[in-house]
Amino acid sequence: MAKLLLFSLSFLLFLSTTAGDDPTAFVYAGCSQPRYAPGSPYQYNVESLLSSLANAAAFSSYSNFTSFSASPSSPVFALFQCRGDLPLSECSSCVRSALSRLSDLCPSAASSAVQLRACYIRYGNDSFLGRPDTSLLYKTCATAAVAYGGGAFLASRDAALSSLNTGTSYRVSATGAVRAEAQCVGDLDGGQCSECVAAAATQVKASCGGAASGEAYLGKCYIRYYSNGAQPYAYGGGGGGEISGGEHGKLSCCYQWWLYLCYITFVLLIWDMNSLI
Ligand SMILES: *[C@@H]1O[C@H](CO)[C@@H](O)[C@H](O)[C@H]1NC(C)=O
Ligand SMILES: *[C@@H]1O[C@H](CO)[C@@H](O)[C@H](O)[C@H]1NC(C)=O
Repeated sequence: MAKLLLFSLSFLLFLSTTAGDDPTAFVYAGCSQPRYAPGSPYQYNVESLLSSLANAAAFSSYSNFTSFSASPSSPVFALFQCRGDLPLSECSSCVRSALSRLSDLCPSAASSAVQLRACYIRYGNDSFLGRPDTSLLYKTCATAAVAYGGGAFLASRDAALSSLNTGTSYRVSATGAVRAEAQCVGDLDGGQCSECVAAAATQVKASCGGAASGEAYLGKCYIRYYSNGAQPYAYGGGGGGEISGGEHGKLSCCYQWWLYLCYITFVLLIWDMNSLI
């Protein structure tokens, strides 16, 4: 019911309220307010880029594309990034699944992005390629706090998050009972990736307190942690930020609307539970 509500309101930022460990489980999507006209050269550019993404995902876990084909003076850019541990065969099916989400959620959007559990795609005419971006887009924390050994858990969690500060674009670590992972978009270099991951770690620590698991999604990277004892990725509430980009600044809707939606969803969930009793 919560999910249906979010989708039927067709806001510009769509968020999941639950996610399994399915690589194609939905996390969030953002769409620009400006739309391209049907049959326009812009549409032609976007379609050719999106089919390039789908094809390239069978051969690598990151690629970027630029299309000048319809209008050389205003190119459109696109990229995808699969999680580093995902086999290529699953990368391409994940990207295809993200593309179909895009066409459902963001029809004709001039710019948009979709994050699934194990892959991410983005396109637009704002030149985001190669640019670091540590703005917070989405965060979520387990509703259950760690009941025992809270102090030890926090120390393990902080150590696990800190050990993500070097490495390739996909980073994993485990300390004590805590596992953590981070993924940067492949257009960042190692130093930019580390800066992004550090910013994401700060966000998730600040937001999730002693929660047994948490995730923070920034413009060019994300971080996740969970305790071995906790159900990974079985989440309750979250929090949002905004995706900026495009000439008009905002690619997604505002935070206040999101909070409002979250509140309504929460109320409906409570109502649902009460009606079962
Ligand atoms: C991007 O495309 C939108 C929609 O066509 C347009 O309004 C905007 O001016 C374009 N921005 C740039 C930087 O070309
Ligand atoms: C974009 O792709 C090209 C060709 O694959 C590659 O040489 C370039 O480094 C990529 N740029 C970024 C910013 O990732």
